Amino acid sequence: MMSINLLDVQNVTKIFRDNRRGNDVTAITDISVHLKRGEFVSILGPSGCGKSTLLDIIAGLEIPTDGQVFYEGNVITGKKGFVSYMPQKDVLFPWRTVLENVIVPLELKNVTKKHAMQEAKALLPLFGLENFANSYPDALSGGMRQRASFLRTYLSKKDCMILDEPFGRLDAITRVQMQQWLLSIWEQLEKSILMVTHDIDEAIMLSDRIYVLSPRPGKVIREIEISIDRPRTHESMTTEEFMSIKKSILHTLSI
Ligand SMILES: Nc1ncnc2c1ncn2[C@@H]1O[C@H](COP(=O)(O)OP(=O)(O)OP(=O)(O)O)[C@@H](O)[C@H]1O
Ligand SMILES: [Mg+2]
Repeated sequence: MMSINLLDVQNVTKIFRDNRRGNDVTAITDISVHLKRGEFVSILGPSGCGKSTLLDIIAGLEIPTDGQVFYEGNVITGKKGFVSYMPQKDVLFPWRTVLENVIVPLELKNVTKKHAMQEAKALLPLFGLENFANSYPDALSGGMRQRASFLRTYLSKKDCMILDEPFGRLDAITRVQMQQWLLSIWEQLEKSILMVTHDIDEAIMLSDRIYVLSPRPGKVIREIEISIDRPRTHESMTTEEFMSIKKSILHTLSI
C-alpha cells in the first residue's frame, strides 16, 4: 500500500493583490512540497522568497491563489487547527505573563488552568524560562520571547509542527543547544517537522530533506536528501560529507 504523506502541498501559488495601486506581488509560484510522518524537512531560501507565506498557507491563515494543501490525504486548504505553527513574529499577548501565554493552546483544549500551569511550569527550565514565568513579554529579550513562543507551539501538541525560523534571534550557543533539544524532541516524540530557515548549516544539521527555494517569486529549485548518520552533533558539521553538501547548496543558491 502506498503510504499517504502527512502533509502535501500541491502546486501552490500566492499572489498578493494590491487593489489600490495595482502592484500585485507574486510571493510564491507553483510550490509542491511534502512531509512524511516522522520526517524533519527544511525549507531554505533567501529573504523575501515567500517562506512565511507558504507556512501561513499550510496553517490555513492565508488562502492560496492556486493549489491545495492536504493533511493525511484530506484537503485542508484555508483550514486552521491541523498543525502546530510557530510564526516568525511571535504572537505573545502583552497583557499575559510568560506562563499565561504558553498555556493558551491547553486552555483552548479546555485543560483546567491548574493542570495547564503545572504542565507548562515543568517545561520552563528546558526552555531557559524558569526565572521568567511571571514576567510579561515586554520584559523579555528577543531570544526569550522566541523560546516562549516555541514552548507555546510545542504545547499545542499536533503531530505536525511547522516552524518559521525558530532560532533566528538566538545567540550561537543557545542556538546549538536549542537545535539539539529540537532533535531530541523530534526523536522521542515522533513529531513531524517542517522548518523554515535561511541558515544552511542548520538545515543540513537537522533535516532528512531540504527544499531550496529561489528568490521571489519563490519556487522549489532543488530537493536534497541528507543522509548523514544520526544522532548528529556539532562534530557532524566539520565532516567532509557535511562540507560537500554545504558547498553544493551554496552553488545552487549561487552565493
Ligand atoms: N499580507 C501581504 N500583503 C502583501 N504582500 C505580502 C504579504 N505578505 C507577504 N507579502 C510579500 O510576499 C513576499 C514574500 O514574503 P514572505 O514574508 O513570505 O518572505 P520570507 O521568505 O518569509 O522572508 P524572510 O526570510 O525575510 O522572512 C514579499 O515580497 C512580501 O512583501
Ligand atoms: Mg519569513
